Amino acid sequence: MMSIATLGRPSPVVRSGHVQLSIILNESEKSTLQTQIFDQIRTMILNGQLRGDDPLPTTRELSAQLGVSRNTAVLAYERLIAEGYIRTKPYVGTFVSPDLPDTAFLSSAAETPAAPAATDEAQGSGVGEETLPQRTHRLADPNRRRLAADFWVGRPDARTFPMKAWSQHIKARLKSAGSKLTSYSDPAGLLELRQAIAKHLGPARGVVCDPDQIIIVGGCQDGFNLVGRLLVKPGSTAVVESPCYQGAAFVLESLGAKLHPVPIDKDGLDVTQLPHVKGAVAYVTPSHQYPVGVTMSLQRRIELLSWATQYDAYIMEDDYDSDFRFVGSPLTALKGLDRNERVIYLGTFSKCMGPGLRLGYVVAPRRLVDSFRRMKMLMNNGQSWLEQAAMADFMASGEFGRHLRRIRQLYRERRDALLGALHKHFGECEVYGEQAGMHLVWKLPEGFPSAEEVEAKGLAAGVGVCSLATGSALRFDKNDGGDRLLMFGFVALSEKEIEEGVSRLAQALKG
Ligand SMILES: Cc1ncc(COP(=O)(O)O)c(C=O)c1O
Repeated sequence: MMSIATLGRPSPVVRSGHVQLSIILNESEKSTLQTQIFDQIRTMILNGQLRGDDPLPTTRELSAQLGVSRNTAVLAYERLIAEGYIRTKPYVGTFVSPDLPDTAFLSSAAETPAAPAATDEAQGSGVGEETLPQRTHRLADPNRRRLAADFWVGRPDARTFPMKAWSQHIKARLKSAGSKLTSYSDPAGLLELRQAIAKHLGPARGVVCDPDQIIIVGGCQDGFNLVGRLLVKPGSTAVVESPCYQGAAFVLESLGAKLHPVPIDKDGLDVTQLPHVKGAVAYVTPSHQYPVGVTMSLQRRIELLSWATQYDAYIMEDDYDSDFRFVGSPLTALKGLDRNERVIYLGTFSKCMGPGLRLGYVVAPRRLVDSFRRMKMLMNNGQSWLEQAAMADFMASGEFGRHLRRIRQLYRERRDALLGALHKHFGECEVYGEQAGMHLVWKLPEGFPSAEEVEAKGLAAGVGVCSLATGSALRFDKNDGGDRLLMFGFVALSEKEIEEGVSRLAQALKG
């Protein structure tokens, strides 16, 4: 059944009795009525239809307008308040928050509005809507800063950034910069940094390579673009894990690739379902599958490599959070097993240092090195000299190794705290991906609401957890069970915050 509330922009007059919102509810939709109300009000705010301090109807008025229960309206408002979109003034009413978030951060697959119609000018210049990327991933939600505990995924702890050493290296490099800041340098990156990375990768990841094979990039995302621009042709096949990381899939899609999802199970990518086509690119996360967290078995790795050799394919290995392995010894990266040079390895400093640095690296097969260097030049002439130089010094001095050991231990303790808290508040939990990385996944037991609903209840109680979509994961199969998976990023919270967050979540689910 569709119920259409009255239309029109809310009156600027602060008389909540006169405020009416254009909200359309669809009971046959998968998301709950509460989520639909939340989504639509949030969209009005993000689109600028509702502005800071605009008044909103009371929950009683809203429930009467929409023909829903008062509780549904209250829950939708609570979630909007928890995420910082609206606020209540006691005895006055409910209003759109005056300090609204930076909307640039808020795009996601589901929310990205359709591209605006091409203007005459744009049409005249041959730029059509079909050439513009339609989907982007979500990196952060600034509103969640207000939560008591936010298990947002993929975010390191700002408190662990090695600020003192970093500032010393930056200052020292600035002092001796000479003409470095006023000239261009090798688009492949600073040699000292490439040497330090090559030295690190051998023992840490089993990847033996020359500094010449390394291209410094602006994080993995830049690496996806670099690889994609070289290897993807419109209509070519891009194998992705199902589910997979949106950031990579959307780049491949934007370059015209046909996404070919291959399911994963407890051993990683199901290699029996790889396509029998020549010249594909396969994007994989073997060490800690994103989002589910499983590790690809050795047998599957070997089969994937032989598929690539047989079908002349390249594998893009995203080793985004492999610095953190909590069980057993570090696993060799897929690249470490690659005898035929079919793997392009992507590493990032976003997880072990911080995404604000925008530093990562690609290890290219020897025969592609020159093409990678040229493409990097076409794209952006290389990365900032200063950060590369500071990172090179931080690695060469041994501080990077010590930093890694320190945060690995800390993150292990936080992971243990999360596992302990889940066990304490929810009993036996089925968990994936806890052996490594910065997040784990809880498979919600039967009888629990869906991950999306748990996320909504958590937000209303001041706790951020992530359903797969919120965690930038792309699903291809609605029957893959992904709607039961809840992601917890655990490294940015102290043990106390973790316990507090899980305890609040448990209360919210009981209430
Ligand atoms: C699976 C995966 N790969 C790579 C990245 C890192 O991207 P970048 O290095 O561009 O910061 C992320 C960030 O969240 C990620 O989740």
